Amino acid sequence: MQSEKEILENVKSEIQNQFEGEATGHDWWHIVRVVNTAKQIAVEEGANSFIVELSALLHDVGDHKFHKELDAQERLVGNILDKVQVSDKVKKEVVEIVVNVSYKGANVETLPSSLEGKVVQDADRLDAIGAIGIARAFAFGGNKERLLYHPNQPPVLHDDFNAYKNDKGHTINHFYEKLLLLKDRMQTKTGKRIAEERHLYMKDFLKQFYKEWNWK
Ligand code: ADP
Ligand code: NI
Repeated sequence: MQSEKEILENVKSEIQNQFEGEATGHDWWHIVRVVNTAKQIAVEEGANSFIVELSALLHDVGDHKFHKELDAQERLVGNILDKVQVSDKVKKEVVEIVVNVSYKGANVETLPSSLEGKVVQDADRLDAIGAIGIARAFAFGGNKERLLYHPNQPPVLHDDFNAYKNDKGHTINHFYEKLLLLKDRMQTKTGKRIAEERHLYMKDFLKQFYKEWNWK
């Protein structure tokens, strides 16, 4: 049996190898930021730090944006957990958290069932807003060859995951379809508090963006 510390170390190096150099904002440093934020929220919220850290490390494995099969996440996360020989209970908890972390559209509910799941979802979403969130959105948009903005293409509040996933709109729309909605969807008090400042920063950014766009 490996200790919790050894399990975290082993998973960490496997994930670092897998995500280093990823160019869509899901790189290794995104994982590092999510792990750090999640650990901080876990302390304030009294969540189990081992489950939180393990799930945060694994949260982007098998993500729907890179894998077509629906159960890719469960399978790939499960494989890594089997290698480090966690108990069935831990495996079940972590897989459940990872599967429920992702945002799936404005009108699609993704509610984590455990406190640890709430903490990891909040940490992941906090990294999608604020200055880093803005940078990631344009990095993602550039990678997908999307326009920064188009004044005649209004945002869409998606009712289902496929419509959200297949949308090819410009990146400013992504703010209305996801980023500005995240503050009110934070699951923990700590997450809400951190989100406030980042939310205001994005609103200021948009104000300035339109001001420059319409400059005369
Ligand atoms: P989640 O972590 O909830 O699964 P994603 O993996 O979809 O979120 O998003 C990862 C990053 O890529 C986030 O910063 C997100 O805002 C950005 N992103 C996702 N979809 C788009 C898009 N259509 N336009 C711009 N950025 C996007
Ligand atoms: Ni993520």
